[in-house]
Amino acid sequence: MNKIVIAIDGYSGCGKSSTAKAVAKDLGYTYIDSGAMYRAATLYFLDNFLSPTNPHDVEKALGSFEVSFHTNPDSGHQETYLNGLNVDKKIRTMRITEKVSEIATVGAVRKILVTQQQKLGKKKGVVMDGRDIGSVVFPEAELKVFMIANLDIRAERRQQELLSKSELVKLEAIKKNLAERDRIDSSRSESPLKKMADAIEIDTSDISFDEQVAKIVHAARQII
Ligand code: C5P
Repeated sequence: MNKIVIAIDGYSGCGKSSTAKAVAKDLGYTYIDSGAMYRAATLYFLDNFLSPTNPHDVEKALGSFEVSFHTNPDSGHQETYLNGLNVDKKIRTMRITEKVSEIATVGAVRKILVTQQQKLGKKKGVVMDGRDIGSVVFPEAELKVFMIANLDIRAERRQQELLSKSELVKLEAIKKNLAERDRIDSSRSESPLKKMADAIEIDTSDISFDEQVAKIVHAARQII
């Protein structure tokens, strides 16, 4: 069977990660969460008191962090490691979420992570989600998806997700963060988030999770 690259981009909180994970499972592909890599880089900057706007700090950070993914043998879930330490829970907290888009504007950080992402997808058979996957990481991806959803719905879903991890965050704060990340991600000079002309757009506001997965799997099977 012909293996392809599936690039899923879109706004924050549209369900890209969970959808990408389910699509990968259905097709027997590898799922790669590029956002987790930017989140792990952010954790490194914060924990080491480095500023993304100070070129010396950026230089110091660049050679010093390594992000990798390992499957948890008990849950079967892929987890994110920073310099050999499991940081999967830490990188999903609001402390990181509030800073990640700022770190993601730094060209030198993006360059390192994009190279790693391209290596991870070299053998194809991958589903990768992010903001610049179809435009920069894999411009030749055989299937590109651009996910959108209404801001209120995205915020409610994200609040439930955080609650399930015992993190109680006000809806307004989540809404503000999602809108702010969309603004920074779409307006930055380095690899801004944008819908590619060859991407299929999926609005997840009014469709079920299973429906959004089925749409992508169907599109993929037409190519494979
Ligand atoms: O996907 P997730 O919401 O975890 O990504 C966190 C942040 O990382 C995004 O808001 C964006 O600023 C950045 N990001 C990026 N490019 C990617 C993936 C994520 O700039 N490919």
